[in-house]
Amino acid sequence: MSEKTGTGDCTRRQFFMHVSIALGSIAAVLVGIPIVGSILAPIIKKPKPEWRVVGAVDSFKVGGGYVKVDYVNTSPLPWAGVTAQSAAWLRRESEDKFIAFSVNCAHLGCPVRWIEGAKLFMCPCHGGVYYEDGSVAAGPPPRGLYQYPVRVNNGKVELLASPIPITTV
Ligand code: FES
Repeated sequence: MSEKTGTGDCTRRQFFMHVSIALGSIAAVLVGIPIVGSILAPIIKKPKPEWRVVGAVDSFKVGGGYVKVDYVNTSPLPWAGVTAQSAAWLRRESEDKFIAFSVNCAHLGCPVRWIEGAKLFMCPCHGGVYYEDGSVAAGPPPRGLYQYPVRVNNGKVELLASPIPITTV
């Protein structure tokens, strides 16, 4: 049986070869666009840390424990919705000195909790424990909690929020 499809020199085999090449090329482009985009994205648009207001200075008690404060992260995607919300643990050490740590565990990012009675941050995922200065007390975390730069500006407490995920190495 002949493979000729009709007029011209194009055989059925050649026709299917051209269709396969065209479909393969389209598939390669579709797969390649996100890969190239993910490689170039940090180079093209690198989000910068930004100061975020987390509350009035007077709303935090001097010498009190850590309080969870919320802020909108600096690199939310348009469809992020509530996931653009992030948080930190903040403590007022003196009239104008504050300390703030990321709520995300330095191991795999689970949210840590401040246990006032024990003066420890505890991670519920794999048992990571941190002292009140953010350093590791026990468990798998390879380093202490990320510490935010904090400032007081016009009666408001602000922390320098980094793009998520926070990288310290
Ligand atoms: S994520 Fe916190 S100990 Fe693993």
